[in-house]
Amino acid sequence: MRFTQLLSGLLSAVSILQGTLSTPVPGVQLAKRYSGTPAGKLGDGGPDTTDYPSDDEIRSVIMNVEGPFIFFSQIGPSVPAYDFARSIGGAGIRQAFPIGWCSQNGRSSQWLQDFWDRGSGVYAEIVKGEVFFVAPFDNKIDRCRTWSRTELPTLMDNVNVPKITLVDYTNTENRKTIWERTPESIAALLAKREESLHQLFKRADDKFCFDWDGYGDDPGDPNGDPTLYIPYYPGRCDVNITQYQKNQPDTNPNPTYHLDITITDAQDETIGKLQFADAPDGQDVNAESRLPDPLVVKTGANDDDELLFEYEGQSWGSNNQDNCIFGTFNGGVRNGDCSFTC
Ligand SMILES: *[C@@H]1O[C@H](CO)[C@@H](O)[C@H](O)[C@H]1NC(C)=O
Repeated sequence: MRFTQLLSGLLSAVSILQGTLSTPVPGVQLAKRYSGTPAGKLGDGGPDTTDYPSDDEIRSVIMNVEGPFIFFSQIGPSVPAYDFARSIGGAGIRQAFPIGWCSQNGRSSQWLQDFWDRGSGVYAEIVKGEVFFVAPFDNKIDRCRTWSRTELPTLMDNVNVPKITLVDYTNTENRKTIWERTPESIAALLAKREESLHQLFKRADDKFCFDWDGYGDDPGDPNGDPTLYIPYYPGRCDVNITQYQKNQPDTNPNPTYHLDITITDAQDETIGKLQFADAPDGQDVNAESRLPDPLVVKTGANDDDELLFEYEGQSWGSNNQDNCIFGTFNGGVRNGDCSFTC
């Protein structure tokens, strides 16, 4: 409800904005667009084009926040960043948008990261003055982070930002300048910029990844928006299974198979785990995780039988070599994993 109200307010704001844009006032400069590359669509399914607000709509709702401005990346839950923001009377991105506005709000998961990237870019466009970046103190930020892709490049292009200070998220007294706008030549600035952008890639294969690690801001944070999270990273999920043979004195004395089941999302984060679950022949074991539905796993009657899986209309067996790699029983256990669309 609140979102609908917001949206209609937003639409009128946008029409006013468009009116302004179509008759530019001489001498008035339009705000520079953020720099860098938003994620675009991630994962399968979902709409072909974004079902989130456009850049101009994002600009029209961004609030007039006072600095100092805080950014963060790669720190897990964002609590230290917002604690630090409060301690210096500053603001983080969450304060720049109405509560709940950045949430998924029933829209596609495939375009959520893209929306956050664009929102972060717009936030980096409007900030002024010294910027504080709360992160690991070695400043080795994954290339896939929003920080690397839209925030840092935008801050470097934002003439109102003279300096970026790195703040150690484990001890916010540790600080150092990692970038400064200097009177050097543009070429030198660009060289510096490239240098800063080419930092260590911990997850070289991933082009995009969330900065809201752990999928949620701290729900106990009074400024927090508990709905600001997505439960898992969509794409190809993975299930890793250890199956315990029946009647094995050392590993599984029970007369039924037992299973360890670990589900990871497309970002390799563990989103569900079952340990030593009883799995009688042919009976469904429902593995709950952050996925919207349980992953159903079934054992056969014999050791030669494959495990059977079902998830949201997909079904497959552990012998399927297109998406599974499974070993044979050895020392009372066999282990393998399968990928599936999530
Ligand atoms: C699956 O789990 C087993 C046991 O913990 C581990 O040895 C194996 O590397 C895992 N496989 C994958 C692909 O993660």
